[in-house]
Order: sequence, then structure tokens, then C-alpha cells
Amino acid sequence: MTRHVLGIDVGGSSIKAGLVDIDAGRLTGGLIAAPTPQPATPAAMMPVIAELAGRLPGARGTVGIAFPSVIKQGTARTAANIDRAWIGTDGAALAAGTLGRPALFLNDADAAGIAEMRWGAGRGSSGVAIMVTFGTGIGTALFADGRLFPNTELGHMELRGMDAERWASAHVRTAERLDFPAWIARVNEYLKRLHELFWPDLFILGGAVSERYAEFAPLLRSAAQLRPAHFAGQAGVIGAALAAAESDG
Ligand code: BGC
Repeated sequence: MTRHVLGIDVGGSSIKAGLVDIDAGRLTGGLIAAPTPQPATPAAMMPVIAELAGRLPGARGTVGIAFPSVIKQGTARTAANIDRAWIGTDGAALAAGTLGRPALFLNDADAAGIAEMRWGAGRGSSGVAIMVTFGTGIGTALFADGRLFPNTELGHMELRGMDAERWASAHVRTAERLDFPAWIARVNEYLKRLHELFWPDLFILGGAVSERYAEFAPLLRSAAQLRPAHFAGQAGVIGAALAAAESDG
């Protein structure tokens, strides 16, 4: 029987949700989304998550929620682009209480990487792969031979005297009205730094902006192989659902 699992991806600017066919490795329909409330507190965000979940009936098992923070045992430990009230909040327990079913919380870039390694751009790859998501911040997920090292926060690596994500995220591209050559010059510098430190074989570049990969691909430079995320902006939703399904056994 086909298993449909609910995946939710919480971002600094929008919250996306979709039903994922866990056997086929894809969304069963489109994504639905709502703006992230500001301030992005647990109390303000939970009703939005519940409303999105209510619009997607028919899911089974644990709900997977990708979240833009370090997540340890379901609890958010950082809050770079959401309200600081999240720090110390057990998001898994809170979501389970709100939705009335078990919830798995995990870092958003880790979720996106899980989807890409299983079904997308990293499928079948060995060695070291780093998924980099460009959105409000920069998220990273590090894999060695397909195994995730969770909660790497390499968007906060220092570059040019600041957090790298304050200089090279997709949000910065639009806020500073950078054209692709100007933005990709920053991305190249960031990838070079990551390469010097981790020597990955593969970078998978994701986030909604990766839908435009063909436009900026000729400008990208790296000593590692570069691939666009197969699932682009859907990867977090798909990976969250996959992780939730696996937690159900
Ligand atoms: C957060 C990460 C997150 C990334 C992408 C960063 O600011 O610290 O946990 O993965 O943004 O959302």
C-alpha cells in the first residue's frame, strides 16, 4: 500500500507543506505554503503549521518537520532566522500536541540533504557530499558515504568578517539586488572555503533559487563536483517526510 507522509518545511519567510509518497520518493500533489508569522514565535507558528496540516488530509504516521535551527532530540537549540523564543523549545512535543499525532523535528538542511542523497542529486554517490541550501540563511548537511553528520552549521562559518549567510544567502542576493555574477562570486568564495576545510567530492546546491541553476551554472567554480538539488525548494518537505517514515520503522 502506498504510504503518504506529511512533510513540513519551516523557513524564515515561508512555511511549506506537502504529502510525500514515501515509496515513489516524490510529492503526491503540489506544495502548499503560508508566510512565516513575524515575530516567528512558537505560539504564532503552531496555528499556521496546524492549518497547513489540516489542508492535507490522508497522511499516515509521524509528521516530519524540517526546521531552520540546530535540533537535538526534538528541541531547537539555536534561532538564527526565527524568534529566539524557540531556543529550548521541544518542537517535536509541541507539534505532536498541536497536530494530535507524533512529530519528528530535524534541521532543514539535513532534511533537504536526506531527500537529495536518497532520491535526488546525491543518489548513489560515495565519498563526502555537502548539501548547501540558499534561502533566508545558508543551511548545510554533511554526508560521508551517504551517512549524515547532523547539525553542521556552516552557514555561520566566518567569511569576510561576518557569518557567511549574511553575505551569500539567497536573501542577501535579493536584499542587495545582486545580479547572478555578483552573487555567484560570493557563492564561489564560500564554496572554496568549505572545500579547503572539508574536501568534499560533491556539492549539492539547493533552495528555491536552484530552480534557476541553468542561468548561473556557467559562473560557478569549485574543485568539487557541483550539482543542482533535484528537488530544489521541495527537498526539505520531502526529506522531512522520509526521516519521519524511517522513524516509524
Ligand atoms: C540556521 C541553520 C539552518 C539554515 C537554513 C541558518 O541560519 O542556523 O540551522 O539550517 O539557516 O535555514
